[in-house]
Amino acid sequence: MEHDFWHRRWQKNQIGFHEGAPNTLMTAHFATLGVPAGGRVFVPLCGKSHDMAWLRAQGYQVVGAELSRLAVEQFFAEHGLTPKVTQDGLFERFEAEGVTILAGDIFELGDTTLGPVDAVYDRAALVALPDPMRKRYAAYLPELTGRAPQFLVTFIYDQSVIDGPPFSVENKWVEAHYEPFYDLEIVETRDVEGGLKGVCPAKESAWLLKRLRE
Ligand SMILES: C[S@@+](CC[C@H](N)C(=O)[O-])C[C@H]1O[C@@H](n2cnc3c(N)ncnc32)[C@H](O)[C@@H]1O
Repeated sequence: MEHDFWHRRWQKNQIGFHEGAPNTLMTAHFATLGVPAGGRVFVPLCGKSHDMAWLRAQGYQVVGAELSRLAVEQFFAEHGLTPKVTQDGLFERFEAEGVTILAGDIFELGDTTLGPVDAVYDRAALVALPDPMRKRYAAYLPELTGRAPQFLVTFIYDQSVIDGPPFSVENKWVEAHYEPFYDLEIVETRDVEGGLKGVCPAKESAWLLKRLRE
């Protein structure tokens, strides 16, 4: 999707993707990824997700990347945090205790600005992107993060019934693009309650993407 698409969504508050509470696949299974206590967790395309607050409350250091400055401002305001804001190359860095969000285009993010991470949490990031941008992201993310283990959430539904985002991403797609980098495991697949966007039956899966065994 083009940048304008997302900026418009945030300006018009059309953010149906934003969950009102931490994602329950994450709260149920994130611990099984085995991230060290106090580890640094990267949240690409983070929006103003409550998942970041939950991860922070578990003692992780959270670092998000988000295109919309509005979303970033809303995250800090809604969690009662006053961030220090500095310019870091092409990014604005919003920092508060335990949580940093880099405002800008993820594809411009280099590992010096991001810094080392212990894990990646991807909910509604991979699936937010259309092909071929999704392919680009799936090749870029492992490189950017040093193949840090990932917790990934995907959706599968009949793409002819409704348009993305989120896009339907088949398990075969995930395997084809991530198997070169990670050992893959699905820890849970469940029906999306009420269907996707309230109209289309859909399943969502939580994946653990772990470092390849040598
Ligand atoms: C579907 S939303 C998901 C947000 C969040 N992960 C969640 O679960 O609520 C996708 C987010 O990615 C952001 N985004 C889209 N393209 C981006 C890019 N190139 N770089 C950084 N963020 C981007 C959008 O502004 C939007 O907030």
